[in-house]
Amino acid sequence: MSERAFHTVAADAAGRLTDHWRALATGALPVVPPGPPGTTLKALPQRPPERGEDLADILEDTWRTIVPQLVHWQHPHFLGYYPTNNSPASVLAELVTAGLGAQGMMWSTSPAATELEQRVCDWLAHALDLPSRFTHESGQGGGVIQDSASSAALVAMVAALNRASAGRWRDHGTEGRLRVYCTDQANSCVPKAARIAGAGRPVLVPTVPGTQVMDVAALARRLDADRAAGLVPAAVVATVGTTVTCATDPVHEIGTVCRERGVWLHVDAAYAGSAGLCPELRDADARPDLADSYAVNAHKWMRTGTPCDVLWVADRNGLTDALGASASYLSDQSTDADEVVDFKDWQIPLGRPMRALKLWYVLRAHGLEELREVVRHDIRLAVLLASLVEQEHGLHLVTRRLGLVVFRAETDERTQGIARRLAGEPDILCTAATVDGRPVLRAALGSPYADETTVRRAWSIIRGHAAAVS
Ligand SMILES: Cc1ncc(COP(=O)(O)O)c(C=O)c1O
Repeated sequence: MSERAFHTVAADAAGRLTDHWRALATGALPVVPPGPPGTTLKALPQRPPERGEDLADILEDTWRTIVPQLVHWQHPHFLGYYPTNNSPASVLAELVTAGLGAQGMMWSTSPAATELEQRVCDWLAHALDLPSRFTHESGQGGGVIQDSASSAALVAMVAALNRASAGRWRDHGTEGRLRVYCTDQANSCVPKAARIAGAGRPVLVPTVPGTQVMDVAALARRLDADRAAGLVPAAVVATVGTTVTCATDPVHEIGTVCRERGVWLHVDAAYAGSAGLCPELRDADARPDLADSYAVNAHKWMRTGTPCDVLWVADRNGLTDALGASASYLSDQSTDADEVVDFKDWQIPLGRPMRALKLWYVLRAHGLEELREVVRHDIRLAVLLASLVEQEHGLHLVTRRLGLVVFRAETDERTQGIARRLAGEPDILCTAATVDGRPVLRAALGSPYADETTVRRAWSIIRGHAAAVS
């Protein structure tokens, strides 16, 4: 295919995307696709073509076959999970990144990719008011872009296990003695990371009754009891903004407990971390001053398309001791002279795309002021939605934190009935979950196209379904 043809088709793709965004903004598309499982599989040939096809035809097929069967995460009525934001700046950066095709596993394999990532992670650390030891400028720690909060948790965990075992984890695994701690409110990626890292099921620390946050005294007792029993507490994972209710563990207090006992503290701030852009939303109890690592998904609430998770560590050697990989073909002078950062040693895979261009474009194109306004705007919409819930007879607001609204009906049966109806509704997507053993519905604001009108429209759909369930 000629470069000229690429130019034409890329312009067509850009036009289709801007039309698509407009359709989302005007509510002209459903949130959820109509087809049953297998719809797309049926529409696709079972074998790849022998001869190349025209890119224009492939693009056409994308809109004919794929787009109608997508869930539109950017839709203003998409209230499920947590948002996965996007923006034109992020999309453009993805195109440029792909086009340049750089692979930044080591500084030497793409110097600008590595140095841009160092700078952009430092920018964001400053913007979120993170401790300076998390920056590359400090010479001790630094940030690295991972694909997800799950990878960030895994990477932090293996560093913690390696540190707790004085490096034995690398060669001997956990030897059955290393332990990881979190609450039952931690995201599912935390126990999964513990499993993959070889630590097995994490120890579940109780939450304070009536809340969803870690009981710090219980944590301290458990760490001490486990140590006395010959186990090695290696890592505690605290959450800023839990997935179900956006609750925040007392990170600073947990940090004190961990610091006193030499236990690694990883903070998962996948969603709520972005709120730290706004000074008035920073919570002194959630400051990660005593944490060893901290992760935020820029792809949730910072207008940066997925994947883009930023993981910061206070001690880069802790990470590279666990994850460093060497081979004859990876040797180079700058690495050997310890002059540079090689991000392959800060992540699971060896290779990596130029991950930072996307965040760089977004931070520059929007500026911090606008990104703060995004957070404030979504919180205002959540406050509006929460007030609509409160005005509704028979529905109860469980909590509204940041852009998340959690609610239920007066009986569990009715909540489940509403959830079942909503699950079949193409024009809205909410997530059902459980709080204190009771079913709830979650609505998380975050679409770039959401405003007061779309919130009221979404609410009238939810309300209609609620009214149909007695
Ligand atoms: C608190 C929290 N941590 C981790 C995750 C997992 O994020 P990822 O999909 O980037 O692995 C989520 C996802 O919503 C989350 O809410």
